[in-house]
Amino acid sequence: MYLTTAAAVLTYRFPHRPGSDVSLYAMLKPHGPSGFGYSSTAEDVTDGLDLTGRRILITGCNSGIGHEAMRVLASRGATVIGAARTLEKAAAACAAVGGSTEPVACELEEPASVRACVETVLAGAPLDGLVANAGIMALPKRVLCHGYEKQFFVNHIGHFILVNGLLGHLTDDARVVMLSSAAHTMGWKDGIRFDDLSAEKAYSDIRNYGQSKLCNLLVARELGRRFEGTERRAFGVHPGVIATNLGRNMTMPGMGLFNRLGPLLVLKSIPQGAATETWAVAHPDARAHNGAYLADCNVKRSSSFGADLDLAAKLWAKSEEIVAAL
Ligand SMILES: NC(=O)c1ccc[n+]([C@@H]2O[C@H](COP(=O)([O-])OP(=O)(O)OC[C@H]3O[C@@H](n4cnc5c(N)ncnc54)[C@H](OP(=O)(O)O)[C@@H]3O)[C@@H](O)[C@H]2O)c1
Repeated sequence: MYLTTAAAVLTYRFPHRPGSDVSLYAMLKPHGPSGFGYSSTAEDVTDGLDLTGRRILITGCNSGIGHEAMRVLASRGATVIGAARTLEKAAAACAAVGGSTEPVACELEEPASVRACVETVLAGAPLDGLVANAGIMALPKRVLCHGYEKQFFVNHIGHFILVNGLLGHLTDDARVVMLSSAAHTMGWKDGIRFDDLSAEKAYSDIRNYGQSKLCNLLVARELGRRFEGTERRAFGVHPGVIATNLGRNMTMPGMGLFNRLGPLLVLKSIPQGAATETWAVAHPDARAHNGAYLADCNVKRSSSFGADLDLAAKLWAKSEEIVAAL
């Protein structure tokens, strides 16, 4: 846990570098009770699964772990609705993988685009899975989006509109997977700053990212609560620390060495990074863990804020209020 968090902190300080296939850390870390672990890949966790007839939406399908999750889910027979910021990006990403895929535009910083995506998806068959995977991290300067800090808006509010718009279009045993992060522990000391969601009083690249990832986790907790007594499931996921385009905004001088060694020592490869969200949305065993925070394809303890159901309910109500006013 400490090594993972240290790796997360260090890695968030480094710009993008493609990951290697196996890190030293991945070789040393044992698998968990699910039979999978740090080194498992999305292909490993879907080995032998037939997802034919399953319809799964994933945002951020054109890059990083979202693209790999889409590729693997489609290769196992699922029809994957691949959402990206533009239809062109989504179409190119879908064309790059085999199997059944359907591109759709979903620009999370524009409510009109998210609502149009919802309308497009509503016109098709119900969803068996919804993976809120897209995200941005550590914007060096405070940027506003409809009056709110941009990471909060893109990572949380955009997905909140999407998830709410599609809740009534889920099958009876559908799963919703929210990409959170170990960085949910790196937010503000007082949890979610409901009185400063525009970050006017204070802005921090990592703390505001952490706050947005705490929001993603709390949405999963609240959905899990709402799904109790049904066959539906919700999960919050930390995918690991992976060298993807997520670090594109990070610039730290003098870190070239770690940038070169990181993938060899501690980072997950993209196939490993895609494993937990893929396990959550597709593996039969994940069903036993409604509302859980998952990492390395196993249940993990989150921060106390991340497990606070009252905070989750408060965030949900505030988010409804924000969305209604947009
Ligand atoms: N990589 C890690 O170490 C790590 C660790 C913990 C959590 N995560 C989480 O994992 C998820 C996937 O990240 P990744 O590592 O695969 O990063 P990535 O390669 O940068 O992919 C992020 C995806 O999100 C999309 N996106 C960004 N802004 C968007 C917007 N306004 N509207 C719609 N889509 C938008 C990107 O589209 P464009 O390419 O068009 O910008 C891209 O497809 C994120 O939620 C991230 O917070 C990653």
